[in-house]
Formats: sequence, structure tokens, C-alpha cells
Amino acid sequence: MLPGGKKIILGVCGSIAAYKSAELVRLLVKSGAEVKVIMTEAAKDFITPLTLSTLSKHEVLSDFSNTDTDTWNEHVQLGLWADHLLIAPASANTIAKMAHGMCDNFLTAVYLSAKCSVSVAPAMDLDMYQHPSTQQNLSTLQSYGVSIIGPDSGELASGLNGMGRMTEPEEIVQSLSGKKKDQSLVGYKALVTAGPTREAIDPVRFLSNNSSGKMGVAIANELANRGADVTLVAGPGCVNGQHNSINRINIVSAAEMHKVCVEHFPNSNITVMAAAVADFTPQTVVDKKIKKNGSELDLHLTSTKDILADIGSRKRENQVVVGFAMETDNALENAKKKLQNKNADAIVLNSLNEKGAGFKTDTNKVTIIDRKGNEVEHPLKLKTEVAQDIIDHILNLL
Ligand code: CTP
Repeated sequence: MLPGGKKIILGVCGSIAAYKSAELVRLLVKSGAEVKVIMTEAAKDFITPLTLSTLSKHEVLSDFSNTDTDTWNEHVQLGLWADHLLIAPASANTIAKMAHGMCDNFLTAVYLSAKCSVSVAPAMDLDMYQHPSTQQNLSTLQSYGVSIIGPDSGELASGLNGMGRMTEPEEIVQSLSGKKKDQSLVGYKALVTAGPTREAIDPVRFLSNNSSGKMGVAIANELANRGADVTLVAGPGCVNGQHNSINRINIVSAAEMHKVCVEHFPNSNITVMAAAVADFTPQTVVDKKIKKNGSELDLHLTSTKDILADIGSRKRENQVVVGFAMETDNALENAKKKLQNKNADAIVLNSLNEKGAGFKTDTNKVTIIDRKGNEVEHPLKLKTEVAQDIIDHILNLL
């Protein structure tokens, strides 16, 4: 079964999706595969060979010979070395060449001489993908035993919307592994909050915090990957990169976030409040810039609505509500209080004292406590992996 322990050649063609091949190499290597990358000349306009050679730990090949060392890159040997040839992204041009036995570059020569299984993940614009010649070429490749992965539908680099996006690297790796995509949340609706809120003081100043929204977006993506219909309520500056299918609603203040959440909560089966909501907001917002008058400024703040607590109080039996707790001391004790006081089903505790955990980082270290009394401490992981742990935990509470 691919890709663990196998030798894989990754062919990268000239497409904007070539930037995703870095992630693809990383995931293939992580899953235990040995990866050698072949790039077409056009691919180098989108991603550097250095990036892919660093990640694959092998020289990236593009030409039949290496003029620096006066050596011949043996395409036949390479084709025999591989257990699998994956071409991702596969451009309309390379697909056409493969379908017609053309071999005017190193990648297509390796394809023609390869005896291993082959798959292609097309990436191109909607009209190019729909063109009868491309469709015919893909059918021809299928008839030669080539597997076609994707493409997906969504926003394309041209601005058009439709079929043509390269399938996400994670899904490509899954499809090579023969693992079926986890679609256990199809039919479920989810509501996720992410990022900071911003409380206006006057037209130019505000109160906010350092939240990047990375954790919340990772959770929204994980829910969408498993088939849930996700609404993401995102604060100002919250990172992008959410799954195509996600309905993202951008808000600014805690009051706006509260309003949107209350509106969407009744239809939501799973609600995860990962946003760092401001606890206080200026009592009055001044409509003109506050001028410097003397050396002090008194700012009167009033509590914002606790969105999680309000949602928790509206919770019905078939709804799961998960909150976060960001603590610096008495972490577990405080998190347990939040679980009770906010009527949540689970609290994801992250401590600002842990290195690599908390705001802005790509990693997090969490402990999940739930209403059943479970307390699960996870090691430091990528936020995308933490999101998987959180969703796995939620599934036991549904
Ligand atoms: N939260 C919320 N609305 C607020 C404040 C917090 O929905 N006005 C939610 C957060 O999204 C998070 C949880 O409550 O899921 C806990 O947030 P946290 O900042 O850790 O705690 P607070 O309740 O604000 O309490 P404190 O700041 O005193 O620790």
C-alpha cells in the first residue's frame, strides 16, 4: 500500500498549484515514502527546485543531463526505481503529452519508460479542464491505467469558480494510501469562531489582542474535511486558508460576533468557540479622534457579552459546544470552572506558559477536559494536528 516505505517520483508541472507540491513532498516523506522530484521548466516559475530538493532530500531533476557534472540523468533507471509516479499538479499540456506519447522533456520521458503505477492530479482553469480535448486526454490516460485524482471545484487563480483546483495535498496522499476520506460529519452543521475581536475607542484606536485565528481556522478546516457544513465567524486579521466549502463571516467587535453566533447556533450541531473575544469594550465610542489633553486618559470599559456562556445556556440535547481556555496559572482548575460556568461540553485548555503553545504559533499544546470527566493531555503538535485531536474528542461527545 502506498505511500509508506515506497519510492515515489513526484512530477511537478507549471501551474500556480505547484506551490502546494512543497506540502505534498512533506506529507509523502512524513508518511514514510522516499521521494524524488522531477520538475518541468515551467514549474520553476512557480516554486524553486531548492525548496523541493530540501524537503525531499534528493536532487531535483529536470534535464536529461547534468551539465555541471557532465552526467546523464537516466530516465529509464528512474522509471524502474519508482514504485509510483505521481504528477501533481498535472497541467493540461503535460496531460496531453502523456496521452499522445510525446516525450519532449525529462518528466514525459520518465512517464513513457516507467513500469510502475501512475496517477495525475490535474490543475488548470475551468475552461481548459472542460475542453473536450482535455477530457478526451484524461479518458485516454485512464484507459492506460493512470489514476486521476480530482480536480476539485472552487475558486481558481483566474478568478473563475469551478472545476480545476488541484486536490489538496493531504487528500492526494490519502488517495495514494487507499484510505477512504473520513466523511463522518456529512449532514452535520458546525459553527466555529476564530481570531481576535476589536473594540473601538475612537475612529482610529481600538482594544484587541494577539490572536491569529490559526487554531480556529484549523478546526473549521478539519470539520469541513470530514464533510461538515461549516460557518466560520472570523475576527479582524484572522488568517485565511479556510476550506473552499466554508462560509466565512468576518466580524469586528465582540458584539458583532455574538450577534452572528446567536443567529447561527440554533442550526449548529457542533460549535467550537476558539476566538479570543475581548472581555471589555469601551463604555462609549467617541466619534471623533480623542485629543491629547494632559498626561492621563481615563477609559471606562464595560463587560462584553460572554458568547460561549450565552450559547451554552441555549444549548439543546443534540448540540455539542466546545470552548477554549487560555490560562497562565491554575490552568486546570480555571478550565474546569469554565466548563461548568459556561455550560460547555468540553474545554480545550492551552497555557501561555508552554513553549510553542498559544497565540500566533503554528503549534499548540492542549489538554481537553469534558463533561464526562475525561481529561486528555496531548503533546505539542501542529495546530492542524491539534484540530484533529479536538474533533476526534468531540465525536465521542456527540
Ligand atoms: N469567550 C466568549 N466570549 C467572551 C469571552 C470569552 O465566548 N466575551 C469564550 C472564548 O471564545 C473561549 C472561552 O470563552 O472559548 C474562554 O475564554 P478565555 O479568554 O480563556 O476566558 P474568559 O472567559 O474570558 O475568562 P478570563 O479572561 O477571566 O480567563
